[in-house]
Amino acid sequence: MNAQFDVNGVILETERLILRPWQISDLDDFYEYASVPGVGERAGWPHHENKDKSLEILNKFINEKKTFAICFKETGKVIGSLGIEKYNPEDRLKEFSNLKGREIGYVLSKDYWRQGLMTEAVKKVISYLFNDLDYDFLLCGAYDFNKESKRVQEKCGFIPYRKLIFDTILGTKEPGILSLLLNPNKQIELDYSLPKTLIIKGYEYIDLRLNPEWKGRSAKWFSSKWHVDEEAYLAEMDKYISHINDYGWYICVKDNHIIGGVGVITNDFHERKDLYPNVCALYVEEEYRGKRIAKDLLQIVIDDAKKYNINKLYLLTDHDCFYEQYGWQFYCMTKNDYEDYSSRLYVYNVE
Ligand SMILES: CC(C)(COP(=O)(O)OP(=O)(O)OC[C@H]1O[C@@H](n2cnc3c(N)ncnc32)[C@H](O)[C@@H]1OP(=O)(O)O)[C@@H](O)C(=O)NCCC(=O)NCCS
Repeated sequence: MNAQFDVNGVILETERLILRPWQISDLDDFYEYASVPGVGERAGWPHHENKDKSLEILNKFINEKKTFAICFKETGKVIGSLGIEKYNPEDRLKEFSNLKGREIGYVLSKDYWRQGLMTEAVKKVISYLFNDLDYDFLLCGAYDFNKESKRVQEKCGFIPYRKLIFDTILGTKEPGILSLLLNPNKQIELDYSLPKTLIIKGYEYIDLRLNPEWKGRSAKWFSSKWHVDEEAYLAEMDKYISHINDYGWYICVKDNHIIGGVGVITNDFHERKDLYPNVCALYVEEEYRGKRIAKDLLQIVIDDAKKYNINKLYLLTDHDCFYEQYGWQFYCMTKNDYEDYSSRLYVYNVE
């Protein structure tokens, strides 16, 4: 959950900086750096065209009580801001439901870049939030192109945690990374939700519609696991990627290698053609089994089915106690199209 925060009365000091609440007298310093093109834009807001805009935002900073002014000690000038923002969507990031934390955001005057100043400020704020306010976690986002901000986060101990498409103030969409820092004084184990956007311990879950460049490699990989022609996979993936249907294809990647995958097709070659769509081709490389990758892949399929108003999913298997643990129910036996024997058909009620 989002933790309480009130900047009023808080003054933090580092070797070269003082972090303190904003004051109306900071207006000129604020306008000076916020009006420079290419600064705010890297953090998701347009540079200020006039001082009125700076005044409007400054009043917001003062009223909302969650943003530090960063002052350069030597001159007393305000050279940046550091906000202790609410993270969102709070209801979807369920791993933090019982923990308290916030998302930080920052901007520094262009004249002061590349001197380690923001790293110095962020480290101090982390120490205050973890040690004095006892927060459990902090998040910090950055657009993919913002290498310097990602570097600041890395130097402060944040670990990339989700791949997201951010909605910008300008109404555009921008791919980015959300990074996470857990309070090292506490033993925190997270049970992650929303696996599709996760990059955790180096595992990245990839939706082929969003990342079609993986299609060829994925088809080859599925084909090598299930001995079905690559072309058959390519044809199904194409239907998904080009929105002919919403039957998804997903892979899990580590160190640029596919280590797991799953897909959805109409019918997995059995005689109950009335029971569709079918989850198929679920596979996790042996050395990566037992790490909940299959569970996460299935969860992604279910989440997307919900999104696409698919009420039931079916799945054909010879396993007899694997899918039960993930909420699937045995439905019936059904004969395989090209074999003489029958397999077990499971159902998952999406809603
Ligand atoms: C991001 C920002 C706050 C960084 O402030 P800063 O005081 O220059 O940061 P630091 O000096 O502490 O660290 C920056 C790091 O990025 C590196 N860096 C800078 N430009 C880089 C680039 N183009 N590519 C890769 N790394 C880069 C620096 O070398 C430094 O790393 P190092 O110490 O290993 O050499 C500042 O660039 C800024 O205000 N940008 C505009 C607003 C913004 O992007 N805010 C963050 C939104 S998520």
